[in-house]
Amino acid sequence: MIDNNTKKIYIETYGCQMNFSDSEIVGSIMTDHNYATTDKIELADIILINTCSIRDNAEQRVRKRITVLAKLKKKQPNLKIGIIGCMAERLKSQLLEEEKDVDIIAGPDAYRDLPQLMDSVENGQKAINVLLSSEETYGDIRPVRLDPNKISAFISIMRGCQNFCSYCVVPFTRGKERSRNPETIINEARELFELGYREVTLLGQNVNSYNWDENGQMSFPDLLQKIAEINPLLRVRFATSHPKDISDELIQTIAKYPNICNNIHLPVQSGSSRILKLMNRKYDREWYLDRIASIKKHIPDCGLSTDMISGFCSETEEDHQQTLSLMEAVGYDYAFMFKYSERPDTLAAKKFKDDVPEEVKSRRLAEIIDLQRKLSHQSNKKDLGLTFEVLVEGFSKKSEEQLSGRNSQNKMVVFPKMNYKKGDYVQVKIDRCTAATLIGEAIL
Ligand code: 5AD
Ligand code: SF4
Repeated sequence: MIDNNTKKIYIETYGCQMNFSDSEIVGSIMTDHNYATTDKIELADIILINTCSIRDNAEQRVRKRITVLAKLKKKQPNLKIGIIGCMAERLKSQLLEEEKDVDIIAGPDAYRDLPQLMDSVENGQKAINVLLSSEETYGDIRPVRLDPNKISAFISIMRGCQNFCSYCVVPFTRGKERSRNPETIINEARELFELGYREVTLLGQNVNSYNWDENGQMSFPDLLQKIAEINPLLRVRFATSHPKDISDELIQTIAKYPNICNNIHLPVQSGSSRILKLMNRKYDREWYLDRIASIKKHIPDCGLSTDMISGFCSETEEDHQQTLSLMEAVGYDYAFMFKYSERPDTLAAKKFKDDVPEEVKSRRLAEIIDLQRKLSHQSNKKDLGLTFEVLVEGFSKKSEEQLSGRNSQNKMVVFPKMNYKKGDYVQVKIDRCTAATLIGEAIL
């Protein structure tokens, strides 16, 4: 029951989809302990910032935010500030020493302890828990849904990562890989469908290595199949996949079920086999292109997206050209593109020199972004005249006369509203496009 004594928590999330999903788990743990979540920061008794450490600029953004919140705390001395997630895990008590206005630090496996941590800060102390666990999956927790859209939801199916890509901080901040009990995942998806949700995205740092082997074995393709069979009107997506584990069995499962979306996010990071080896990615250019060929064979209209890093240690102009040529060869629909940012304690920080000058990293990144803009536009132009099934997510950004949603390939589609509404599946024929959006009309 919420009364005047119920403390209100405002959760602010930075970083990846996993973090958004974790914030919903945190919301649930707190509401089970007599706290309430609020979307109004001015009403909050506690502000939690769920943080990301993946690149230095992600951490800098949080540091700036803490300074802003510190001013709020001056006006409202009882306000408590908690830093949770990857940055809490990476910096541990150092963060409490550096940021005097922070009261609570909790790492990604310590969220069940948050109510106790809150109790101990009531009398002015600081509280910290950054223990990593090899078992915690929060499998029994029903996340509160913080996203107001109520059509699509994230479901976390595994946690942690032990691939140790040499540039990446995640194995240090999120610990060992572990899979969640499939029964709890399937139940969560079924409940969401019954509540009116029409799309679930299964999340993990490396979803395709999902594997459950207590009381019966279940692989990722088996799990996908079970979720797809809940109802044909429930769309299923997943992120992120590692190229080393993208099997033909998985590709064929996606091809078999119309409600498993034809869209694979398959981060390549670089097109040069030499750089991939230094990155400890466990595949080379040829392997990656072979997997793409298999995807295109079994799912000819599959949407493809990637992550790219420019200027990794020792990257030459020749390596960079290989990245550009791989992007052309695949013809990605979308990409997340970054400059390499050295992270303390990673294998690359220990073993290699961050020796590509900043201006070279920037110029290469700009070339990658330019090429991707061209590829996205080309891919959208190929869709002109085609008809797609679109799941309506809401009004378009520009007008309440237009609706927007995604097709199976994950492209944003905009069309006139007519009598359609959020949650409907609509057949839309595409007649125009930009590099980012398809525009069309509903056909009856
Ligand atoms: N520097 C730049 N980009 C990085 N990524 C991960 N670590 C780094 C880093 N140190 C990118 C990768 C990954 C995405 C989530 O972030 O492309 O796939
Ligand atoms: Fe950032 Fe990676 Fe942590 Fe997600 S898992 S919040 S991307 S560091």
